[in-house]
Amino acid sequence: MSTLPKEVTAGIDVERLREDFPVLKQTVHGKPLVYLDSAATAQKPVHVVDAIRHFHEVDCANIHRGVHELSQRSTAAYEETRAKVKRFLNAKSKSELIFVRGTTEGINLVTSSWGRKNVNQGDEIIISAMEHHSNIVPWQMLCEEKGATLRVIPMNDRGELLLDEYEKLLNPRTKMVAFAHVSNALGTINPARRIIEMAHRAGALALVDGAQATPHAKVDVQALDADFYTFSGHKVFGPTGIGVLYGKTKLLNAMPPYQGGGDMIKVVTFAKTTYADLPYKFEAGTPNIAGGIGLGAALDYVNRIGIEQISAYEHQLLEYGTLALSAIPGLRLIGTAREKAAVLSFVMEGIHPHDIGTVLDKQGIAVRTGHHCAQPVMEFFNVPATTRASLAFYNTFGEIDALVAGIKKVKEVFA
Ligand SMILES: Cc1ncc(COP(=O)(O)O)c(C=O)c1O
Repeated sequence: MSTLPKEVTAGIDVERLREDFPVLKQTVHGKPLVYLDSAATAQKPVHVVDAIRHFHEVDCANIHRGVHELSQRSTAAYEETRAKVKRFLNAKSKSELIFVRGTTEGINLVTSSWGRKNVNQGDEIIISAMEHHSNIVPWQMLCEEKGATLRVIPMNDRGELLLDEYEKLLNPRTKMVAFAHVSNALGTINPARRIIEMAHRAGALALVDGAQATPHAKVDVQALDADFYTFSGHKVFGPTGIGVLYGKTKLLNAMPPYQGGGDMIKVVTFAKTTYADLPYKFEAGTPNIAGGIGLGAALDYVNRIGIEQISAYEHQLLEYGTLALSAIPGLRLIGTAREKAAVLSFVMEGIHPHDIGTVLDKQGIAVRTGHHCAQPVMEFFNVPATTRASLAFYNTFGEIDALVAGIKKVKEVFA
C-alpha cells in the first residue's frame, strides 16, 4: 500500500510537525517507533517541554501569594493558561474554569460537591453504555451513598447511542446526564448538543467527559450549553497531572468546596471560614503550576496548527485506516459508528489482543490492548479486550501501512 499524496493531508505538513516531537524520532526494538497510543496519552511537542523547563529554570515560585518578582511571573504564566482555556472551550468567563488533575478528578469534583448537595434518595443519574470507568464509578459511588439509581443509555452494534431509548429514561427524577463526547474505546462521536438539549428539557443537568474530544475537534461549551465539561491536559499534548473542569457560574457558585486548605479561603477563624470566589474556591493547596504552564503551551501549539485542520486530517487517516484494516481477513473492527474520531479498535479471530500488542511492539508499533477502562463496552461486544490503535495529527499514512504490515506479521506468527 502506498502513502497518500501530500495534497490530501488537509493542509497539515505532518513531516514538519513531527520535528516538534523528539520522542517520535527513536527506534524501538530496532524499528522506527510508530506511536498509535495517543488516546492513552498524547506526545508532547518541544514547546511544552520548553515551557515547563523555563518555569523550573527561570520563574519557579509558588503562585498567588507572593509579591516578589518570581511569584508574580509564575502566577501570571499559570493564570494566562486559564485565559487560553477560556478561548479553547469558548467559556464565558475564566472563573468558570477550575484546574484539576485531569478528567477523572473533574468528574469526581462534580459528584462529590454538586452530587452530595443535589442528589437525594430516589433520584436518577443517567450515563451511557460506552463510558470510561471514570464516568461510571464516581456516579455509582454517589448513587450508593444517596440511594439514587444509575441508568444507562444503551447503544447499537456500531457503537452508537440509542437516543429513543435515552428519551424513555429521562423523567422528573433525572438529576444529571453524564456522557463522553467521544468514546475512548470505540471512537464514537456522540451528538452532545442533542443529548444535552434532551437532558435540559427533562429538567436535568448535563456533564460532558471531553477527554477524547478536546484533542480532535473544536469544543464550544456555550454552543453545547454543557453544564459541566471536563478534559485532561495530557491528551491534548500537554503534561500529565493537569486538567480542567468547566462549570456554569451559577452552578459552581451554589456548590460547596471540594477540598479544604490554602488558597481556597477568604478568611479563616476557628469559628468559621469563608471561601474564596470562583474559581479558587475549588483549588485548595499548591496546584500543579508547571503542569498548568505546560498546558498553556500545548493549547497554543494546537491553536497554531488549527483544531479544524487537525480534525480534517485525522478524519482522512481514520478513513484510510478503516479501509485498510477492514480488508484484513479475520479482523473485526469494534466501533463502526458513522460519526467517529481517531480510534481503530479491533479483535482478530483466534489471537488474543495481548499477543497482538506484543508482536506489534516487537515491530516498533505502540498500540494499547485491554479493556481501555471500559469493561462494560467489552461485555457488550462480547470480547475480553481489544487492540486499539489511536491517532493524532503527527501520525502518517505510512504509519497506518506499517500497522497493516504489522498485523499481517501477527497473523504469520500465530498461523
Ligand atoms: C473518555 C475518557 N474519559 C476519562 C478518562 C480519564 O482521564 P484521566 O485518566 O486523564 O483522568 C479517559 C482516559 O483515558 C478517557 O479516555
